[in-house]
Amino acid sequence: MQATSRHTLKARRVKFDLSASPVHWLPEDVFSSHLVNGIHLLLPAGELWFCRVYNKALPYITDPQLREDVEGFIRQEGIHAQAHRHGEAWLRANGYDVDRYRRTADWLFEQFLGEAPFALPLLKKAIPAKQWLIFRVGVVAAIEHFTGLLGDWAMNSCGWDDGDPVVADLFRWHLAEEVEHRNVAFDLYEHLCATEAGFYLSRQAIMAIVFPLFIYFIAEGGRSLARQDQSPAAIPIGHAGIVRLLLQMEQIGRRTDHVPPFSLVVTRTLRWLSPRFHPRTEGDTEQALAYIARSPAARAAVA
Ligand SMILES: [Fe+2]
Ligand SMILES: [Fe+2]
Repeated sequence: MQATSRHTLKARRVKFDLSASPVHWLPEDVFSSHLVNGIHLLLPAGELWFCRVYNKALPYITDPQLREDVEGFIRQEGIHAQAHRHGEAWLRANGYDVDRYRRTADWLFEQFLGEAPFALPLLKKAIPAKQWLIFRVGVVAAIEHFTGLLGDWAMNSCGWDDGDPVVADLFRWHLAEEVEHRNVAFDLYEHLCATEAGFYLSRQAIMAIVFPLFIYFIAEGGRSLARQDQSPAAIPIGHAGIVRLLLQMEQIGRRTDHVPPFSLVVTRTLRWLSPRFHPRTEGDTEQALAYIARSPAARAAVA
């Protein structure tokens, strides 16, 4: 039984009033503001896809504790998606076109990773439905590695203390819940794989695909917002190549702690290569729950 399995995952019906929050919510840091805000564009489609995939996987779960964790995970991710839709609407209300990126995100999760592999009847026949489902559960596990490591970074960072408190709380509450449920996707994928060797090899292959795609989509979210921002600091961000953007992330992350340095993302992902890797050692559940206990939105949800 995993450490977080003893803890029941519950959905907190948080609400955020972003009406007074500036889009440049991290002072004097347009780069980090846009890079973090870009997450609002990607996650609603991604997290609703997690829920659809996991609902399909539920009948294959034979461990009652894991099933309970997965059901808690689905409830939490559904609310995360709603919160980021609200963030997306906030960006739109501030004059940003979010629809172009959203169309790509919707295509990625609804078509490319949807029920019919690549939407091609030939591939649908070649890949049995259960295998396609298990592959997608593996993709969720790989993405959750990033949300978990970003959550652990956020729980140990003070960088957002000087940012807009509502936006900071939205991201911190979400990331705290990512730490809270960080074991679930990994455990579910292991549970559905037929052999330990198959689990190990396939999770490496899946990470090799997911890592560059995740980095690209996060970077493009930030760039797509920066391209629409006429402030002098935003213009070079919007037109930067991915490598330059990641180098900036490294420098700005080290200087301000507003974003994790890119090297942290890389080194934490290298740990995934170990056959002994398990997300239970990649974060601190008590620390995440301590943040949730003081999060203004989570406290209001409980009240
Ligand atoms: Fe989430
Ligand atoms: Fe998650």
